[in-house]
Formats: sequence, C-alpha cells, structure tokens
Amino acid sequence: MRIVLLGAPGSGKGTQSQLLIKAYGVPQISTGDLLREAVARGTELGVRAKAVMDAGKLVDDSIVLGMIRERLAQPDAARGFILDGFPRNIAQAEALQKLLGELGAPLEAVVLMDIEMDVLFKRLTGRRICQDSGRVFNVFTSPPGSPPHCARCNDMPRLLQRPDDREEVIGKRLEVYEAQTKPLVDYYRAAGLLRIVAADADVQTVFDNLCRAVGAPPAAQ
Ligand code: AP5
Repeated sequence: MRIVLLGAPGSGKGTQSQLLIKAYGVPQISTGDLLREAVARGTELGVRAKAVMDAGKLVDDSIVLGMIRERLAQPDAARGFILDGFPRNIAQAEALQKLLGELGAPLEAVVLMDIEMDVLFKRLTGRRICQDSGRVFNVFTSPPGSPPHCARCNDMPRLLQRPDDREEVIGKRLEVYEAQTKPLVDYYRAAGLLRIVAADADVQTVFDNLCRAVGAPPAAQ
C-alpha cells in the first residue's frame, strides 16, 4: 500500500491512519507528527517550525521535504506507506513524484477525505490527546472512557490540546487548506490517482469505505 491521505485539518487522516497501521502493518508518515516531535525535542528545526505551526501556516517546503526524504529511506517504508498531511501544495506533490520515481515506488492512490467545513471546527476544538499513550480523543464524539480499553494510560488519560487547535488558529488552518492544499484534488484527479471517501460518517464506516477505495483486502476485525 502506497497512499496519500488528503484532507482538511480534522477530516480524520490521523484517525484512519491508525486503523490502517493496525490492519495492514504499513507505516504512517505524518509530517505534522514529525514536526511536533522536533518541537518537543527542541531542535533548531523544531524551534523554527513551532511559531509557524502555532500560527496555522505551512512550514517551509525545504524542511518538510528533507524530513520526508529521510523517513522514506527507512527500511519499514519499503513495505509501503500512508502519507498523512503530505503533500500539502503542488510544489510538494511534484517533489514527491520525483522522489518516489527515484525510489521506484510510485503512489497507488490519493484519498480525499471529503467533509463539510462546518463539521471540522467541532472536531478540532474537541480534540484532546493523551500525553502518555498518544491516543486521540474528542470531547464531543469519543470522550475519555470510550472504548477501546487503553493499557498504556490505564484509561486515565492526561489530556492535552494541540496549540493549533485553539479557535483563533483553526480559521487560518482551514484558509491555508483551501488556498494551498485543495488544488491537489485536481492535480491528482488529472493523474488518475484520486479516490474520494465521505469522511463525515462514523470512524468504522469511513474506514470500510477507505479500504474499498484503495482496493485493500478486507481487514480482520
Ligand atoms: P497536521 O498535524 O498534518 O494537521 P492537519 O492536517 O491540520 O490535520 P489534523 O491532524 O488536525 O487532523 P486529522 O485529519 O489528522 O484529524 P484527526 O484524525 O486527528 O499539521 C499540523 C501543522 O504542521 C500544519 O498546520 C503545518 O503548520 C505543519 N505541517 C504539517 N505537514 C506539513 C507539510 N506537508 N508542509 C508544511 N507544513 C506542514 O481527527 C480530528 C478529531 O476528529 C479527533 O478528535 C478525532 O477523534 C475526531 N474524528 C476523527 N474521525 C472522526 C469521525 N469519523 N467521526 C467523529 N469524530 C472523528
């Protein structure tokens, strides 16, 4: 499986990536997670990226491309990959095509997680992340205490809100998506790679439709 999950902030890319990892053992490569790790480690790159991310803007292409090049070179990516949050503009998409051409591992599908903008605001303001297990909750749709049982945090999550999930930043992120990322829909449609999945259904329904859209064999329950 070599796919891109394309979609607005809060459309469910991270949630669906976790289910794909569990079902198919393919690594998720999330530029957002890689950047947040750099921020948490306090690296020079992390310090530079933090201000940009907290403002809801896109980090420099050169930084993100360097991270992707390094990550795709790791052995587990030879099994395939789920790109989550990358590419995010046409320049990144062109660079990705070149890189995957060099690796002899072209994309098989690009899935647009299709959802109305008004649903996203609630999803993003409601998102909370357990700082011990990394599990993602939502105070509206999947609050702490909802299944599955989590052994790592013993079902007692210490919850954090992402700085860019504050109401005043969300509008900017959605604006950046419309202006810079949405043009990728036509780009990948023209390349014959685009698949569209309705992302406003419940998590399992979205997952079933996503698997069908990329032609993945039925996942064991
Ligand atoms: P990134 O981390 O990629 O964030 P994003 O694209 O804005 O996406 P999110 O992580 O917010 O949402 P998601 O679609 O994964 O939704 P999730 O599954 O969590 O990027 C952050 C920042 O890093 C960017 O703003 C930028 O600054 C920088 N960056 C990253 N990549 C970059 C790049 N390539 N170039 C330049 N800069 C880059 O779900 C959201 C919530 O909804 C959760 O609470 C979840 O529980 C809930 N939910 C999910 N699915 C459902 C469902 N079906 N029903 C009900 N609730 C649901």
